[in-house]
Amino acid sequence: MRTNGRTEPDRAGSADETSAPSFDAAAAQAIIAAHLGMEGPLLPLLHALQDAFRCIPGPAIPMVADALNLSRAEVHGVVSFYHDFRRVPAARHVLKLCRAEACQSVGASPLSAAFLRRLGLAWGERTEDDALSVEPVFCLGLCACGPAALYDGEPVGRLTASVLDELAERARRA
Ligand code: FES
Repeated sequence: MRTNGRTEPDRAGSADETSAPSFDAAAAQAIIAAHLGMEGPLLPLLHALQDAFRCIPGPAIPMVADALNLSRAEVHGVVSFYHDFRRVPAARHVLKLCRAEACQSVGASPLSAAFLRRLGLAWGERTEDDALSVEPVFCLGLCACGPAALYDGEPVGRLTASVLDELAERARRA
């Protein structure tokens, strides 16, 4: 099962089709409660929810809205605006490939396209074994070492086809 998390929600699979943690209202409520004392809690809270569930689960949106005294539309608007937030779960590992200009100038586009072809994926999809999601990102601040990526949040520079294949293999094994 492959899922495009952002651009084709009608193709999205449910959380049951992945090994992603299923929604747990009590766990979500605990995460929300842990952020209530913060100044500007919304973004850190959404990131924490995504860390826990690999996406922002739909049922969490009204919970966040109620807790922060926001409308559901406001919370939904923030989730939709920031490309970092997913509405369907990512795979166990996430590889974000930079598509911005400096990386493109050193070959990121054909490198990414060939990698996605080897995996049989489109942007935002996850591999059938739920090992790896490949997502676009626009500048990681690693422009001097492009083509650049983040693998589970870890920066990776000077990408080559073999580095990408090694990352895919690492995801499969872990
Ligand atoms: S353009 Fe790719 S890291 Fe800046």
